[in-house]
Amino acid sequence: MIIDTHTHLDFPDYGNDVEEVILRAKKVGVEYFINVGVSVPSSTRSIELAQRFSEIFASVGIHPNEASNISEDDWACVETLVHKEKVVAIGETGLDYYRDRSSHDDQKKLFHQHLELATRTGLPVIIHNRDASDDCLDVLRAYDGKIEGVIHCFSGDKDVAEKFLDLGFHISFAGPVTFPKANALREVVRSVPVEKLVLETDCPFLAPQPLRGKRNEPSYLVHVIPVLAEQQKLSVGDIERITTHNAKKLFRIGKIDTQGKIAYVIRNSLYLNITSRCSNRCLFCSRETAPYVKGYYLGLEKEPTIEELITAIADPSSYDEVVFCGFGESTERLDVLTAVAKYLKEKGAVVRLDTNGLGDLINGRSICEELKGLIDTICISLNTDSADEYQRLCRPSFDGQSYSSLLSFIKKAKEFIPDVMVSVVSIPGVDIESCRKIAEELGVRFRVREYNNVG
Ligand code: NI
Repeated sequence: MIIDTHTHLDFPDYGNDVEEVILRAKKVGVEYFINVGVSVPSSTRSIELAQRFSEIFASVGIHPNEASNISEDDWACVETLVHKEKVVAIGETGLDYYRDRSSHDDQKKLFHQHLELATRTGLPVIIHNRDASDDCLDVLRAYDGKIEGVIHCFSGDKDVAEKFLDLGFHISFAGPVTFPKANALREVVRSVPVEKLVLETDCPFLAPQPLRGKRNEPSYLVHVIPVLAEQQKLSVGDIERITTHNAKKLFRIGKIDTQGKIAYVIRNSLYLNITSRCSNRCLFCSRETAPYVKGYYLGLEKEPTIEELITAIADPSSYDEVVFCGFGESTERLDVLTAVAKYLKEKGAVVRLDTNGLGDLINGRSICEELKGLIDTICISLNTDSADEYQRLCRPSFDGQSYSSLLSFIKKAKEFIPDVMVSVVSIPGVDIESCRKIAEELGVRFRVREYNNVG
């Protein structure tokens, strides 16, 4: 499923063929569209389209280019329209210093009006920013924590993207990201966490390669998604699933998945989620607040049996690797872990275990030998460089012995598992270099994991 979060299907470019445009989009998997108003008449038409087509939702607002040409009545109309059914966002609004059709002051005043309306209604905003990043950021900072939304058709650099991300905004890239000379823009794509990406065409404008110059339409997203996938080092399916999840959450449309996955694919790896229990309550973990990973819901109502896991896995041999991961700690269910790993090895899979390394304390015995021949790679969360820091950050359910048990687990793992790696999460307060030194001394590989980047 794909969501086009920015269309202008009410524009005259789509004379009589809106229905065909929507059909073509649905054929390639685009199931929802947010049609974005740029004026009072176009916002009204967006709502009409949303009434006509179940797949279309509306955003209402007045484009910054019109800021100097509107009356008080126009704004009053927007305030009324926003309460209509299927209106899911406010915009597009923002600042456009490129075209400069309205004075900067008028644009800022109108931008503030939209943002105040967003604060009052709780709706997300769709923001247009063209050559006005500094002023746009200045305006938005006044609403920090009060509004959310998307910077649409992003065209700035990495620093600017980071500043919008710091304010909590999502970012979307339209057709230009596919243009041959857009290397700088593609570099920005790499820097945006995939959890903050949504898709858009901005049709009828900005058709992607190889249709550049033609009238754009939502089905052409199939030319944009592979570029985003390549830059994010994910699959096309991953980008579709994750951006759909992001858009559903941001615009509160459709149904968010709440059926916990026990086996799920990211890139060409299969991940197994065998438990939600964990002996740690790490400060940076979202297990209890938002157990989503790359668009999958991992909350489990009940723990899967060995049979259920094997059915869900089917044939594991086509995957690059099969990983015991999820928000829970797999060694909490050592019997299930070893039984499923045995099945995987018999089927010729490469098996990895991601663990907090406290399996010895959890099971009351040294467990590494039991993993011999079953696990090819083990990735152990080291997380900190000292016992005190470990207690503070990871909040283990065991007393002060956790960190020393973790270190001896790593040493023991080297005896029985071919490839041992330790990881830390890059969050403030963690001394990454000091952790790297510990890994070197232990003679194991070292990996820095981005905050909240599981899988
Ligand atoms: Ni637009």
